[in-house]
Amino acid sequence: MSKTTDPVICLDGPSGVGKGTICLAVAEKLGWHILDSGSLYRIAALQVSRHFPDVEVESIKESQIVDIASKLSVSYGQKNSELAIILDGEDITQLIRNEKIGDKASKIAAIPAVREALLARQRAFLTNPGLVADGRDMGTVVFPQAVLKIYLTASPEERAERRYKQLKDKGIDVILCDLVEELRQRDERDMNREAAPLKPASDAIIIDTTTLDIKQVTDEVMDWVSQRVIQDIN
Ligand code: DC
Repeated sequence: MSKTTDPVICLDGPSGVGKGTICLAVAEKLGWHILDSGSLYRIAALQVSRHFPDVEVESIKESQIVDIASKLSVSYGQKNSELAIILDGEDITQLIRNEKIGDKASKIAAIPAVREALLARQRAFLTNPGLVADGRDMGTVVFPQAVLKIYLTASPEERAERRYKQLKDKGIDVILCDLVEELRQRDERDMNREAAPLKPASDAIIIDTTTLDIKQVTDEVMDWVSQRVIQDIN
């Protein structure tokens, strides 16, 4: 059962900073649940592109996008220590992990009514014993009561490089300089929108991960967890 007193750790930050990987590692160490909030915007984007193939988001009525976002029949599971995403019985885990869907997700995420439609669904992920949530507005809007808020950053070049490797490993073909430009546009949109823009919460701890590897970032987050969270929930 979800209780507002169940603890939440928020990991926010821009695209390609490694939030998803760190979120999984921290949740695994704690035995807590995870919320990949970006996946909800990506799933909504996938559904929008299926309903309106080859139509730009700007040309679709907002009410139609909101309607799609509020009716997602999605469930999450685990596959080879990765998050598996099932939409209406179809495994869409890989389908949503391309830059085209990421870009569309960022565009529909700028619509306040879409964010509103996904809010309760995100909060419902908070169940005992606790939640590690990653996204853009976890600490500022979705879980302002979080026991620990971390904001991860890295230089745009480093983030593009990481995303490039991640996509290549999954067999997805991308061109690095296209990726740099796409990340730049996505950052700009996510940071400058009016509804829940990407920014650190006033009580967030900022970690620059540019020169750190996954283990170093996980260790640093876990240090904060020991200092702030374990004491708090004991
Ligand atoms: O984290 P991601 O790359 O999967 O997210 C895809 C897009 O979804 C991102 O560019 C902006 C949007 N998003 C958001 O607006 N708020 C969140 N909490 C998570 C993602």
